[in-house]
Amino acid sequence: MFNQGLSLDQAPPISVPFRFFLTAPIFAILIGVLFLVYPAEVITNRFSNETIAIVHLFTLGVLSMIIFGAMQQMMPVLAGAPIKRARLFATIVHSSLTIGTLCFALKFLFNLDKFFIVAIICLAISFLTFFSVAIFLLFKVKYLTSTVNVMRLFAIAGILTALLGLHLAGAHLSGNIASNHYTFVNIHILLGIFGFAALLIIGVSFQVIPMFYVALDFPKSVQNRLPISIFILLISYIAFAFLELDFYIYKILFTIFFIIFAFHGLNSLSNRRRPVDDVTLWYWKVSLYSLIVAMLNWLFVPQDSSYFLTILFAFGFLFSLLQGMIYKIIPFLCWFHLSSKGYFQIPTIKEIINEDLIKIQFYIYITSLVFFILYGFFTEIFIDIAATLFILSNILFFINCFLGMKKYETISKNDPMQTFIKS
Ligand code: HEM
Repeated sequence: MFNQGLSLDQAPPISVPFRFFLTAPIFAILIGVLFLVYPAEVITNRFSNETIAIVHLFTLGVLSMIIFGAMQQMMPVLAGAPIKRARLFATIVHSSLTIGTLCFALKFLFNLDKFFIVAIICLAISFLTFFSVAIFLLFKVKYLTSTVNVMRLFAIAGILTALLGLHLAGAHLSGNIASNHYTFVNIHILLGIFGFAALLIIGVSFQVIPMFYVALDFPKSVQNRLPISIFILLISYIAFAFLELDFYIYKILFTIFFIIFAFHGLNSLSNRRRPVDDVTLWYWKVSLYSLIVAMLNWLFVPQDSSYFLTILFAFGFLFSLLQGMIYKIIPFLCWFHLSSKGYFQIPTIKEIINEDLIKIQFYIYITSLVFFILYGFFTEIFIDIAATLFILSNILFFINCFLGMKKYETISKNDPMQTFIKS
């Protein structure tokens, strides 16, 4: 699976990805709390400061946090590009991302400019450190797979998103909001969501769906052409945005491309060579179906305030998939590090995180999604229920990840030879 050709000296220390994975649910809990604290019409208004804060608690605190953590694990494995001094690198990226995200949210929630300066510095450190190293390593890789190619596109989209974000932040700080400010905002959003987040997920899915689930490969034509088509569309949109032409043709093309990806993902998952019962599959399926509904909603319901799109795309597609992926990565890494260090008496991958607890978390999470959607049709009480369930599901998500890691820590405190002799 994830250990194809991976040796322990190439893999980063287990604490590297784990610190990112454990921090993400804490930011998600915070998002749920803000949904409870602020009136629904404030948080669902795209232009309010509270919305900008919540959006970035998600895009930076949850999404970037998980992506940065997973990439440090995946670059040596899927691209053969290990990061040197992995622990130091992770400490810089993780701590500056955490502090930067918190300060960014504090600025937009309480209008505190002092925090904003810290946020801008920390986010610049985190994103520029991560992407300069990632771009340097990924563009040196000799053996090019479709995933390496997509990782490169993701890295370019990611650094552009961050630079634009820093530019927008500078405009807020100086109070100098130019007439084309919202053109930059739209480019920042599109590059962030369709480039940075979705492109990476697509590229990684090409490898991990067949690996994790012993499933059908994505067709080579999709692997080779889809990501670059999305990327070209994004880049051409940048020129297009300043010309203020009709955007609808772009919507149609983005929708077609993402539905092609979702269709092949679902097709792959339905054609598994070893169709064993696996709860993490549920997250992937919910994620891919949400992506289809989100894109169709975007295309056909133009009067939508973007609330449904945000819920379906961010929580339905992105967050569901990332949770399913983390539930696969954590047990695998625990098992891999223990077995590579010579421990013999270790739980199987499926025993590291209790499957029943994952199932409970899944049901609570899905119910929260349903209530978020119902709020779009009914009253504010639905968003309160949704937020409460969202908080509960993320507390359980945190506990599940934490218990898995604790199991690893307990075993790794023993001498490997002792466990062998005892057995
Ligand atoms: C260095 C990191 C980043 C900084 C400093 C930053 C900064 C900003 C700022 C200042 C705005 C407000 C623009 C305005 O309405 O005046 C904004 C909007 C937005 N950003 Fe970022 N951003 C960053 C990273 C990201 C990433 C990685 C994503 C997505 C993956 C993202 C998604 C968005 C979205 C969706 C909005 C629109 C929010 C709304 O309409 O309420 N940002 N960003």
